[in-house]
Amino acid sequence: MEDTTHKFIAELHRSFDAGTFVKLTLGNYKGTDEHLQKILIRPVETKKGSRLLFQYRGRTRDTTKNFDPAEAVQNIESHLKTGFRSGHLFTTENDFQITVGKRSAKISTGKPTFKTAEKQSHDREKHYRIDPNVFYLKALGITTDKGEIRSDQRDKWKQINKFVEILEGLYESSDLKNSAALQIVDMGSGKGYLTFAAYDHFSRKLTGPQASSLQVTGVETRPHLVSLCSEIAAAGDYDGLKFVQGNIADFDPGDVDILIALHACDTATDDALYKGIAANASIIVAAPCCHHEIKAQMRSPDLLAGILKHPVLHERTAETITDGLRSLILEREGFKTKMFEFVSTEHTPKNNMLVAVRTRTGDPSKTIEIDAIMKTFGIRHQSLSARLEDSARVQKSSSELA
Ligand SMILES: C[S@@+](CC[C@H](N)C(=O)[O-])C[C@H]1O[C@@H](n2cnc3c(N)ncnc32)[C@H](O)[C@@H]1O
Repeated sequence: MEDTTHKFIAELHRSFDAGTFVKLTLGNYKGTDEHLQKILIRPVETKKGSRLLFQYRGRTRDTTKNFDPAEAVQNIESHLKTGFRSGHLFTTENDFQITVGKRSAKISTGKPTFKTAEKQSHDREKHYRIDPNVFYLKALGITTDKGEIRSDQRDKWKQINKFVEILEGLYESSDLKNSAALQIVDMGSGKGYLTFAAYDHFSRKLTGPQASSLQVTGVETRPHLVSLCSEIAAAGDYDGLKFVQGNIADFDPGDVDILIALHACDTATDDALYKGIAANASIIVAAPCCHHEIKAQMRSPDLLAGILKHPVLHERTAETITDGLRSLILEREGFKTKMFEFVSTEHTPKNNMLVAVRTRTGDPSKTIEIDAIMKTFGIRHQSLSARLEDSARVQKSSSELA
């Protein structure tokens, strides 16, 4: 039996050395762990290099762990001696199956099921930034009491993680890390996923006076969501996190370092961007959605009539023009902007993220470009532009009065 196991392990070693290893499964478990059923082993690329990911399939839950190849081989050998009666090694040259009986074992060899040995990235089980056990994720129903991500919440989970990753990168490359306080406002906070995530992230990260001065505020029109989020914030002892019922357009955010507005509907995004500009925010992170304002006004220039006659292209162009104009306006107002897809479209179709970082050198010449684009597409009113113009008018008349 020992010999047969050694032969099987030798084939495993050979497949690693030759780069032909595809995957290995251990099954027919008769050992003492009453929950364990199967182990699936596949190669993954991690920051530590090539590793083997072990996915332990149990009766009620799965767990995963990765090992370097030497540890992995030792573990596989030990598993075959302690309860797994079957092992299936897939290589690009052959499939090998070991069947372990009470007194003997045998190996059968077959044609390869897989022709290529692709290295897989560690995407399925990658180390997420957020601990799935944190209180707010459980309270919001993203994770279970055991800290497992609910199957219908995986997209949200990915979105929250990506959002925190982006926020962290922006914070680290900004001057905010040298400032004494950090104030974040989330406009249109909804069920508060991102507000909680931002608060939780920075409350763990910051130390000293910056930690004690951390203030995160979610602004939301719907009272029941404000109550729900406030209750969770209180239950989690999240001092420094509050939810306010109100309209973005009327909300006075005071001092803001980071302004967030993800999926605030239609021109609520413009209201939020305006508040960020007016409050001198260092960073604005927005994911616009529902681009009704421009879509309703947009006329096709003659040259594009044959293209924009298709409603779907008209709609997409309206979205592009809306967000492109917002980005140009932010640049004119002294921000450096970036627009990118923040999660894959399979998770949410509204996935463009507009990030604006204050540089303090505005570019008034952008006005010519903005006006020309608006004229070309027959756009008479753009909410962010209009709010800034109103504000400039008020400032001008009050300075004239003074
Ligand atoms: C699609 S949800 C997004 C929630 C959250 N930002 C997220 O990404 O998970 C948009 C939220 O913004 C709120 N909202 C829309 N317009 C608003 C406004 N003018 N003022 C405050 N909240 C607004 C809506 O009630 C809704 O809860």
